[in-house]
Amino acid sequence: MAKRFIEVLKGKRLAPPPWWLMRQAGRYLPEYRELRNRAKNFLDFCYRPELAVEASLQPVRRFGMDAAILFSDILVIPDALGQRLEFREGEGPVLEPIASDRDFARLKPENLHRRLAPVYEAVRRLAGGIPAEVALIGFAGAPWTVAVYMVEGQGGGARTKIRDWFRRRPADGETLLALLADATIEHLSRQIASGAEAVQLFDSWAGGLDDDEFRRFVIAPTRRIVARLKERHPGVPVIGFPREAGARYPEFARETGVDAVGLDGAIVPSWAVREIGACAALQGNLDNRVLVAGGERLAGEARRVLEGFRARPHVFNLGHGVLPETPPEHVALLAQIIRAWKD
Ligand code: CP3
Repeated sequence: MAKRFIEVLKGKRLAPPPWWLMRQAGRYLPEYRELRNRAKNFLDFCYRPELAVEASLQPVRRFGMDAAILFSDILVIPDALGQRLEFREGEGPVLEPIASDRDFARLKPENLHRRLAPVYEAVRRLAGGIPAEVALIGFAGAPWTVAVYMVEGQGGGARTKIRDWFRRRPADGETLLALLADATIEHLSRQIASGAEAVQLFDSWAGGLDDDEFRRFVIAPTRRIVARLKERHPGVPVIGFPREAGARYPEFARETGVDAVGLDGAIVPSWAVREIGACAALQGNLDNRVLVAGGERLAGEARRVLEGFRARPHVFNLGHGVLPETPPEHVALLAQIIRAWKD
């Protein structure tokens, strides 16, 4: 039986569209908080297959999404490479930044598979345990976004350290992105071999770059990853999510070869349908704050998204992850609205 989520990624239009939510597992669910308390820390949580499997299944059980996403994090790659990483309560991830050639030389790509074995074990168990109509999504951070964390030591901000570094020593920048692209290919390839049926590349910090940087740091590594995955796993769809790419989304879709693009909340659906719809399926893009608000505002905005993308293959999602303050009942309301949608 073809799964609805996979059919749409391969170019079929379905009404109602399949749906899932970025960060559908997380602190907004009481059962997640309970599970989280059983782990020593967040990384321990990610590396214990029985906990990761349960966290992946919780939202699907409660709300009936069309896809489960592996519970893990994009920062398991720097962790597995040997960079020091800590998830501090209320502060998010903090890494010991890469500042010199010496730090760089200490990264150990050869340890990746061994360190990440529990992640693949979680994928295997999930593939064997999810309901037959639900698809399993694997994921990784895109090289640029992971490099931002590795060099800046944290996310967000103006990203001046990394942009300066890549400008002063372009060869080092390219080497880091190539190392991360290769690690990402291996990581996603193993997830697929373990049972992931589609994969998503999260490029959360793809905004705020100039044209040349966007091509070198976002498009080029993504294109390389997509090409290798397509050679090794033909038919497994790849979703690219270059958050805040704005007017560069069409070029991203054309140049990288992704099957679908994840759109952030700033993108107008009719524009995306016109400018991107011909070369990729579209995923998105309800504002995550509207999901916090709930009620009529949620109903109205969700229908606007459904209507806006109806002309093309569309996967309903948010423009960014579920916020921790989201009432779970609002997700249940969203599920009802999507299921009731007719063309
Ligand atoms: O979507 C899912 O349900 C699957 C699991 C998933 C997590 N992180 C779990 C998580 C996925 C796909 C991610 C991706 C991720 N991680 C991204 C890309 C998407 C985005 O949000 O832009 C990024 C940038 C990260 C790095 C990261 N991990 C940050 C910035 C944080 C702290 C923010 C926060 O909400 O605390 C994390 C921690 C994290 N990753 C949590 C979860 C559920 C919260 C940890 C906790 O339980 O305390």
